[in-house]
Amino acid sequence: MAGLIPQDFIDDLIARADVVEVIGKRIQLKKAGREFKACCPFHDEKTPSFTVSPGKGFYHCFGCGAHGTAVGFLMEYEHMSFVEAIESLASLMGVDVPRAENDRPARRYDELFSLMAAVEQHWQRCLRDNTAAVDYVKRRGIDGATASRFGLGYAPDSWSDVLDKFGKTAEGAERLLATGLVIRKDNGKHYDRFRDRIMFPIRDTRGRTIGFGGRALGDGEPKYLNSPETVLFHKGRELYGLYEARQALRQIDQLVVVEGYMDVIALARHGIGFSIATLGTATTADHLNVLFRLTDNVTFCFDGDRAGKAAAWRALENALPQVREGRQIRFVFLPDGHDPDSFVNEYGSDAFVTALTDGVALSDFLIGELASQVDMTTVDGRARLAELAKPLVHKVPQGVYHELLVASLAERVGLPHARLEKMLGQAPQKGSRMTASSRSPTRQRRAAISAGRPSVVRRAITLLLNHPSAAGKLDIEKLAGVRRAGVELLHDLIETVQEEPNITTAGLLERWRHDDDGRHLGKLAAMEVPEEDDFDPAAELAACLDQLALAGRRERIDYLIEKQRLNSLTDDEKSELRQLH
Ligand code: UTP
Ligand code: MN
Repeated sequence: MAGLIPQDFIDDLIARADVVEVIGKRIQLKKAGREFKACCPFHDEKTPSFTVSPGKGFYHCFGCGAHGTAVGFLMEYEHMSFVEAIESLASLMGVDVPRAENDRPARRYDELFSLMAAVEQHWQRCLRDNTAAVDYVKRRGIDGATASRFGLGYAPDSWSDVLDKFGKTAEGAERLLATGLVIRKDNGKHYDRFRDRIMFPIRDTRGRTIGFGGRALGDGEPKYLNSPETVLFHKGRELYGLYEARQALRQIDQLVVVEGYMDVIALARHGIGFSIATLGTATTADHLNVLFRLTDNVTFCFDGDRAGKAAAWRALENALPQVREGRQIRFVFLPDGHDPDSFVNEYGSDAFVTALTDGVALSDFLIGELASQVDMTTVDGRARLAELAKPLVHKVPQGVYHELLVASLAERVGLPHARLEKMLGQAPQKGSRMTASSRSPTRQRRAAISAGRPSVVRRAITLLLNHPSAAGKLDIEKLAGVRRAGVELLHDLIETVQEEPNITTAGLLERWRHDDDGRHLGKLAAMEVPEEDDFDPAAELAACLDQLALAGRRERIDYLIEKQRLNSLTDDEKSELRQLH
């Protein structure tokens, strides 16, 4: 997952890196029991809630939720890339990033980037040569200058156009596959991923093309096809249009987050060069980190429909830990049926800028949304509002903004500030999520890992992260056939520990760095597992697995009994049922 530096080298480096030394060099740490404390470098605070745990090899801030390994700290604090952080750690420890193999990966990365650039240019030529494609772009209101600023192209209607031009040799085909430009069939043959589509290059902060989005010209499905996750391209981190915005603007005063490629381009065409889009995913904490590094003024602009509201709410949830004094976070909802592209084309840029200034502040959006879910005319309803707000308010770091948020809540709820503060002070209770129906299945799956009642799976993962070696001898087969949120992840974690018995907490977190579940792993790793004197993590973990296996068996029995009732058991299932009984 770490790209092309050998994984065992990274594991080893992280296992041996002294997280206290790395962080202690940059901020002042104070010993506190087995751990070290400091005022968090990632948010303003007066009392230290930033904790470094040398045992687990990672840090965690109880105030703003920032956490990570030594590598993560270098990336966040020093703004290093992953590879730079690994190199910096290696040099601190006096070891070389393996040379013999390193020469090749370095060259390979270069080769992948040049391939992307070559394909991009090829597609630009194809656009010029194809009248239907040019017509489409024009019909969408895009002029030549904007098209070339964003490097728009056209992928011809062929199964092997890119393959024939760039994949003649085995190595060439391998590179096309690594960048996601072709797809491999079961029989080992390849074909072009992008066919008959307008192509949007996605660039990294240095302007190198790392992926593409492709729009169907007509009603083809899917409307947009995107590059898959590759060694170059990690969707949860990239923002479409950011490179172009930084090129166009001398200074970035504000950024507007929109939903689509076409929104960014249409706005740019109308002189609004400061919009960027997430790539068909929710706005992640990683995205927000990038944004707030560039400006204190961020506006989310979504469609006025239900999907837009849901997307805005997810953005709000992720933005809360980043809220603080001096930062302006606003939400704009366009009139129903409009996205920024259609809006700016119909009403012009002045109207769009006005819409931006009319946006609602984060606190108003938060309180307004929650208020709409309760009956504000009753005392019960207002108490419920406070209850719903509690876990959200808890995500906001202590400080002036936190105070102001509590003050506006107090006003809405009709309680004295101090009373409400006290109510909110108690640990958050479950059940304050917005319309569950607006969540995608993967979000639900993840939510089940991260929130709700502490499930067996969650407990097992927490134990494993806190005591990786305890998973060394587990019987992983027990998880076979258990269908529960998070079981797959648990399975993969156990497997990793068994393959790599010396892996540390930090090592595991790094392995999952590029995975969406990784963020939740960090949170679980930060949780203290209460330990009595005779605590045996291996036995506890084994017990969790037994519990899961049992639950899995029960579900299987229920299923088979139901089938029996319907007289549709196969012979195999009959004997399976006898055995299970
Ligand atoms: P929209 O469906 O809102 O498309 O998707 P749009 O940007 O308005 O596109 P046009 O105007 O019809 O051309 C918003 C974003 O969601 C992602 C893309 O990033 C898109 O820009 N998306 C959408 C996909 O990845 N795949 C899809 O099939 C649809
Ligand atoms: Mn659109």
